[in-house]
Amino acid sequence: MMSGKKRVLLCVTGGIAVFKAAALTSKLSQSGFDVKVLMTKSAAEFVTPLTFQALSRNPVHMDTFNEKDPEKIAHIDIADWADLVIVAPATANVIGKIANGIADDMVTTTLLAVTAPVMIAPAMNVHMYAHPAVTKNMDTLRSFGYTFIEPGEGFLACGYEGKGRMEEPEVIVKEAEAFFSQQLHPQWKGRNVLVTAGPTQETIDPVRFFSNRSSGKMGYSIAEEAAKRGATVTLVSGPSSLLDPPGVTTVRVTTAEEMYDAVISRYHDQDLVIKSAAVADYRPSETFEQKVKKSNDDMTIPMERTKDILKELGERKEHQILVGFAAESEQVISYAEKKLQSKNLDMVCANSIVDPGSGFQSNTNAITLIRRDQEAQSLPLLQKKEVATKILDAADELFEERDKR
Ligand SMILES: Cc1cc2nc3c(=O)[nH]c(=O)nc-3n(C[C@H](O)[C@H](O)[C@H](O)COP(=O)(O)O)c2cc1C
Repeated sequence: MMSGKKRVLLCVTGGIAVFKAAALTSKLSQSGFDVKVLMTKSAAEFVTPLTFQALSRNPVHMDTFNEKDPEKIAHIDIADWADLVIVAPATANVIGKIANGIADDMVTTTLLAVTAPVMIAPAMNVHMYAHPAVTKNMDTLRSFGYTFIEPGEGFLACGYEGKGRMEEPEVIVKEAEAFFSQQLHPQWKGRNVLVTAGPTQETIDPVRFFSNRSSGKMGYSIAEEAAKRGATVTLVSGPSSLLDPPGVTTVRVTTAEEMYDAVISRYHDQDLVIKSAAVADYRPSETFEQKVKKSNDDMTIPMERTKDILKELGERKEHQILVGFAAESEQVISYAEKKLQSKNLDMVCANSIVDPGSGFQSNTNAITLIRRDQEAQSLPLLQKKEVATKILDAADELFEERDKR
């Protein structure tokens, strides 16, 4: 995930959502973070500290005065240890206490001593969340520089429905990853990035279309990674079953023509465009309003060319860095090199769709990065998420070169 283990201090306070904090501890550890947990006495009424100790593989602290190591003062030591603090779930009570500088247990005392950034994930009854005291305390904490991972809406354990549900552990983990990624890649903040992904569908009649095997996984991974680094990301996606990546503006289209419009209309504002979509090269010349009925004769469907989006982006290029994909089944590198020249690209990510573990549908990909005046860089078979980081690292070099010119 990242170089060296980043240290996350998880402060767990006393609400029903403590059970979700157990899953959060596990997911943070699985994502490669070193996790320590502090609990309030109320939190331990819901889930025992032993659960958190086992999931974090670190001792859990609850009592400020249980000083086991005479060389250290535990709450200061732990406060200094943290690279990031997450309070999840955060009760109305603890939000009120830290907004007012109250330090009367291990969690609140440590939070006052922390200098690392603090993220707060509130969880409470919908009326508690809407109480002006809670709103005011949250505003105070925002003014101190704390960030909030807002609760979602939905069914609450208290029987009410509404805002107050602690955000899902997966989302909180992604927020933590994004925080560290932005620390590592500050140059991405302020960059506008447009990524295309997925197949297009070209209509024949109300029930049939031409399409291809693209899943969208590569483009979605790139969009998510760019957003994690702090870029402003637009994902133009053909039909895909994947969920919108967090922090990304996703524009869903169906046909090559719609993708053309969605990309061209946004092109001027972009700093980087990565075209990983598998856009149909041909579409039926005619579409039928009614379902085509079968007959005993063979059928021929005349096809016409769709617009070549990448070529047009290359022709209209101003300040943008333009990256294309070349998914080929033979002569991969030579076709990709031709594409780099003929479409005026800055980089081509070439991949063989016939190699095992590569190409459409799969979670892995082995690509070769081809840039102008540089030796081709072949990457080993990697998870598409890792491939995304390599492509963005290479794009970083292209930004540096562009800025030198
Ligand atoms: C069953 C139960 C569920 C609770 N759930 C919440 C909750 O989700 N959010 C909240 O702010 N308080 C909740 N409370 C109230 C807190 O536990 C209480 O305010 C406590 O003093 C919080 O202590 P702490 O902030 O030190 O953990 C709940 C209490 C009970 C008995």
